[in-house]
Amino acid sequence: MDASHTVAGERKQFDFTALTARERYKLMIGTIIPRPIALVTTVDEHGRINAAPFSFFNCLSADPPILAIGVENNADMSFKDTGHNIRMTEVFTVNIVSFAIAEAMHVCGAKYPRGVDELNEAGLTAAAGIKVASPYIVEAPAAFECRRHVTLELGKSRQIILGEIVYAHYGEGIVDENLHVDPAGVDAIARLGGDTCSTIRDRFEMLTPKL
Ligand SMILES: Cc1cc2nc3c(=O)[nH]c(=O)nc-3n(C[C@H](O)[C@H](O)[C@H](O)COP(=O)(O)O)c2cc1C
Repeated sequence: MDASHTVAGERKQFDFTALTARERYKLMIGTIIPRPIALVTTVDEHGRINAAPFSFFNCLSADPPILAIGVENNADMSFKDTGHNIRMTEVFTVNIVSFAIAEAMHVCGAKYPRGVDELNEAGLTAAAGIKVASPYIVEAPAAFECRRHVTLELGKSRQIILGEIVYAHYGEGIVDENLHVDPAGVDAIARLGGDTCSTIRDRFEMLTPKL
């Protein structure tokens, strides 16, 4: 590959400006790990439920409380159902994916036609949103109801959608009265490169040094 070369000590280097989109994708998703998975629930303009996983996802600001998802278009440049529904309704719900619902999340990642309720296909339970039209998933350890804050159009095929969290749901015993969220209770899974996922069951504490 022209865009890469090996230097002394076997380090590899890549000129990202000379790589294809596919090559950049492979390096990025294999390297920027672990990525949390948002199982995003939306409704379309007819109120039909949709669910799909997104690992281009993270928390970007707490004040205002903003999270982001990266949504690619379909190959023919049409919007994925999630992108379409957020455009139409201005809301979405991010459901955190625990190990217990990993398989169900994967079912939701299949390319069902618009209008098919993936939660139904996956055996997950939708509950009505409190502040938004999109439902949350009862089996998810946590869920954030979001209003679309701003959409960044990155070229013709990718949108980054920022959502402001307006309501949060937690399963029993996951968050205590001091707002400490128990990572073992969340038991989130993460996406690595390719089809590989991981758990967050191996943890350690690190205190920031006090100067
Ligand atoms: C674990 C996982 C992570 C994914 N992450 C993304 C992502 O970050 N962005 C994206 O556009 N598609 C992602 N996908 C693919 C979408 O989930 C898939 O295209 C889905 O069919 C879209 O559904 P929709 O058309 O109902 O929105 C991911 C799939 C899986 C299984």
